[in-house]
Amino acid sequence: MTTHTAEPIGPEQQALEEDLVAAVVASFDATTDPRLKKVMQSLTRHLHAFIRDVRLTEAEWNTAIEFLTAVGRITDERRQEFVLLSDVLGASMQTIAVNNRAHKGATDATVFGPFFVDNAPEIPLGGDIAGGASGQPCWVEGIVTDTDGKPVAGARIEVWECDEDGFYDVQYDDDRMAARAHLFSDEDGAYRFWGLTPVPYPIPHDGPVGKMLEATGRSPVRASHLHFMVTAENLRTLVTHIFVDGDPQIEVGDSVFGVKDSLIKEFAQQAPGTPTPDGRELGGRTWARVRFDITLAPAGV
Ligand code: BEZ
Ligand code: FE
Repeated sequence: MTTHTAEPIGPEQQALEEDLVAAVVASFDATTDPRLKKVMQSLTRHLHAFIRDVRLTEAEWNTAIEFLTAVGRITDERRQEFVLLSDVLGASMQTIAVNNRAHKGATDATVFGPFFVDNAPEIPLGGDIAGGASGQPCWVEGIVTDTDGKPVAGARIEVWECDEDGFYDVQYDDDRMAARAHLFSDEDGAYRFWGLTPVPYPIPHDGPVGKMLEATGRSPVRASHLHFMVTAENLRTLVTHIFVDGDPQIEVGDSVFGVKDSLIKEFAQQAPGTPTPDGRELGGRTWARVRFDITLAPAGV
């Protein structure tokens, strides 16, 4: 990469550059959709400000085009490199911050990620999401309420996570569906299920986003987590995860900036032979348990 000496630009050059920004902004003046007009004009101003700020070289611009082309080429129904790019740039978390303002103790949202699948099987309360995925069994339970503390019955709770090798089902070349499911809260808002104790894993880094992380000395590893998406009538949909208290990766840093203190939970390790909440026999294995109470904000706040 070329290095630049910060050469001051003269008034003529400055006027030329500013005139171009003004011309491009004005080219959107006739946009009839006011929101589209605002977005395009602001995008133009910020993009040009960036190019002028770093005095972008033509070679660098070509590299950027090649990079985005590679991001597009590797993207298909199973691999979403644009989501990864947005995630590692913190753009996903910033959009979440803008759209999920703190509201009266509602549970914090975090990044969605590329591994949600919308036809995961339904399990009964107390069911097991593993579907053959390997990992330490983990009992997960909690209650869904609104911000007035009223239990939310029938909330749809989608959960998904990686196996103990750090891979989601969709990352395997077969058509397995594992370590994901949905269930519904009962009439008291309560839910419970068997999942797997989360482990840290790298986001897919064998593509252009991985190259960018490597070139900038960044790790692709995410802090251990279990994904949730909770929907209920008249309440704001919550997309979040819970993180494992004590996971060293939380201190090292999460590659997509998803950790929030309020989402770090104790996953209490249980010795072999400790009776399970539902009497399930685990054949002398260790297991873990975690409680995650979920508070949903009203829709539209
Ligand atoms: C995930 O947690 O599944 C994820 C989030 C962002 C990028 C890659 C994976
Ligand atoms: Fe994940």
